[in-house]
Formats: sequence, structure tokens, C-alpha cells
Amino acid sequence: MAKITAGVATSHVPAVGAALDNGRTHEPYWQPVFAGFEYSKQWIKDEKPDVILLVFNDHATAFSLDIVPTFAIGTAASYQPADEGWGPRPVPVVEGHPELAAHIAQSVIQEDFDLTIVGKMDVDHGLTVPLSLMFGQPEKWPVKVIPIAVNVVLYPVPSGRRCFALGQALRRAVESFDENLNVQIWGTGGMSHQLQGPRAGLINREWDNAWLDRLIEDPVELTKMSPVEYVREAGSEGIELVMWLIMRGALDPNVNVLHRFYHVPVSNTALGHVILENAE
Ligand code: DHB
Ligand code: FE
Repeated sequence: MAKITAGVATSHVPAVGAALDNGRTHEPYWQPVFAGFEYSKQWIKDEKPDVILLVFNDHATAFSLDIVPTFAIGTAASYQPADEGWGPRPVPVVEGHPELAAHIAQSVIQEDFDLTIVGKMDVDHGLTVPLSLMFGQPEKWPVKVIPIAVNVVLYPVPSGRRCFALGQALRRAVESFDENLNVQIWGTGGMSHQLQGPRAGLINREWDNAWLDRLIEDPVELTKMSPVEYVREAGSEGIELVMWLIMRGALDPNVNVLHRFYHVPVSNTALGHVILENAE
């Protein structure tokens, strides 16, 4: 049986990818950021997951405003790093797991979640930066990835409640796949940031940390938070945090916190990162 063994959450700030790709990780600005992932890189080397369900958002890269799926699952054999305007990042092609992805689509859609099935998609910083933070700069990603794309760009976005329930359905889907696989689920994006308008640059440390406490300890209560509160307190791009609730929904009600890191600022963003393991 396949099993979800752990959840990882991390911000996906594109400048982090540029710092790595351009060999600048030891500069004073970047050193403390990458230091926050030293534990994580060793941990994942030891854990050796087979597959990651990587919950991320596309930033109008693969999906234009012509078609914006609320939730989508990638069933492709591979995904190319996207050209976001300055050429694709020099990172490996992302290998998929079409069999598990098709099984998840079958299971979750039959549980009434209307996932869009995506057979071809280039993946932007939302997906590749978390891989870089956790795995560094390998020749080949040491894991297969099933991209789960969530719309947090065009309103209306899905509620935290719906995201959490999708996480629970993803867990049931994984656990009914008849192959021994070590599967992790990652929630990405966030934490507080606003890239546009009069409040551009907004960061809310206190709110971010209280939100993290609740994500760990009382996620069901946290699912009641409205999208308006995310935008008001965490900024227009802070809404990316609802994706962390998909990850949390796929884990046990009680979790052990293996690692927790928060650093401000990273580019325009408050960078948050946690590793959670099932405690039950
Ligand atoms: C930044 C953060 C994001 O989440 C993003 O998608 C783009 C830019 C930033 O902090 O610069
Ligand atoms: Fe983003």
C-alpha cells in the first residue's frame, strides 16, 4: 500500500531560485535563508520519498487567464521547467508518476472533487523553487512528482475548508494505491506578502506565526478563516497559504513538528517552512 508519511510546507519565492541558479547562496542576504533548509535537506535524504504530491500554484504561466482550473492534477510522465520571461531555470526535468496520478484522479473525482486533468504543463517557480530548497542542485530530481495546481491567482479562490477536505481525499486515494510507495505531500506558497497596489511590501510576522501554530495544532478551526481575512492580514498573495491546508488535511489530526523556520524578508515575502510527521 502507498502511504503518506510526512508533510512539508515552504514558500516558493522566485528570487530563491535565482540565488541558487546564480551561485549566490553564501552572500550575507541569502546565507540565513538557505541555513533554514539544512536540516530539511538531510532529513529528506534520509527519508528517500518515492513520490511527492506537490501542491502549488501556477502564476499565469501554464494557465493563462483563458482557462483557470480551481484544482488540477498532472498525469504526465514529465514536466518541463517553464520559461517565465528570462528563460527556463537550469533545473532538471520533473518526472511524474502517471499511474498514481491517474489513480488519485479516479479516487478523488469519484469523491466529488472536480479536478482538471492536465496531460501537459510547464511548471513555474511555484513548483521548482520548493524542489530546489529541499533537494539543492542535483543532476536529476531524486523523486517523482505529481503536481496538484490550485488557483490562488484569479478570484474566486477555493476556501480553506475545501482545501483541507481535498487533502483528506488525497490521503484516502494514496492509501488505496496497491504498491508500496513512500509518499510525501507538500504545501507551498505564502506566507504573508503583497506584490501589488498601495499595500505592496506588506508582511505580518505576528499573524503568520499565529497561523502556523493553528495549522499545527488546530487545523479544522483554521479552515473557517475566510479568504478576505487572508488578504487583509497576509496580503493579496498571502492567500497562497490555503494550499498548506491541503497538505495538512492529508495528515493525522495530531502531528509532530520536525522542523519549523521563519525568515523575513525574502524578496517581498515572509518565508515560512515546516516539516510535519504523522503522530498517530
Ligand atoms: C515573490 C513571491 C511570490 O510568491 C511570487 O509568486 C512572486 C514573487 C516575491 O517575494 O518577490
Ligand atoms: Fe507566488
